[in-house]
Amino acid sequence: MIAQPASNGIPEYADPSSLPAHVGIIMDGNGRWATRNGLPRSMGHERGVDALRETVRAAQKLGLSYLTVYSFSTENWRRPMAEVTALFALLRHFIKKDLKRLKSENVKISVFGTRAGLPEDVCSLLDMAVEETAGNSRFNLGIAFNYGGREEIARAAKQVAEKVATGEMAIEDFTEEAISRHLDTHPFPDPDMIIRTGQEHRLSNFLTWQGAYAELVFMDVLWPEFGEPQLREALEKFGARERRFGGLGKEAG
Ligand code: IPE
Ligand code: IPE
Ligand code: MG
Repeated sequence: MIAQPASNGIPEYADPSSLPAHVGIIMDGNGRWATRNGLPRSMGHERGVDALRETVRAAQKLGLSYLTVYSFSTENWRRPMAEVTALFALLRHFIKKDLKRLKSENVKISVFGTRAGLPEDVCSLLDMAVEETAGNSRFNLGIAFNYGGREEIARAAKQVAEKVATGEMAIEDFTEEAISRHLDTHPFPDPDMIIRTGQEHRLSNFLTWQGAYAELVFMDVLWPEFGEPQLREALEKFGARERRFGGLGKEAG
């Protein structure tokens, strides 16, 4: 159960242990939202950025420490170039418009994914967002942009393999832990919960390695309709789950 707002700036939860530390969100349904409202798909993405702003604010308010949002997948290149270009334009706009505020709110931005194929100025803006917030510590925002879980794992494994080849690492140390350490998301903890909006029930290559034990919460709302009430609803669902990590649960006797 979520407690009522406190006025002293302390997160609103009575029992912080029931809070996930890291939440991942697959922000899906922008295009359908636009189509259903008689608008071009690009408008759906624009409204999606508003939903993202509200969600980042709500995540901080409710006491989360890490939030990773899936903004552009390595598979999204399959879309018409005009839509891909519009998504890049929106990322540029978001960083230019919101970076100053996020910086002042002590938000540290991390970027996950490959730079392959991205326009140079988009890469520079992503670097700028990371560099300018590197000293921040109150809240961690991960932006998965041009991100694919399998690509990330392959890249991490390659880095470890290179270290083994040069003798920097022993082959015995090519472990799960070593791969985790070389993923883009390091040092984020694994996500406790992954939320997907937009009525689809799949992960679409999001946090493939890290999400091994994440609680999956699928919500029917389309991403532009998402905000604080929907985040609270997802947190309620998470609070009611029993995480067993392969062990025995409460009902085991
Ligand atoms: C999610 O919304 C945003 C991105 C994938 C970039 P979609 O664009 O996938 O919206 P639908 O699924 O077509 O409605
Ligand atoms: C997942 O949504 C990717 C992002 C939200 C960035 P998609 O709309 O691309 O996923 P599929 O194609 O329905 O699996
Ligand atoms: Mg979609």
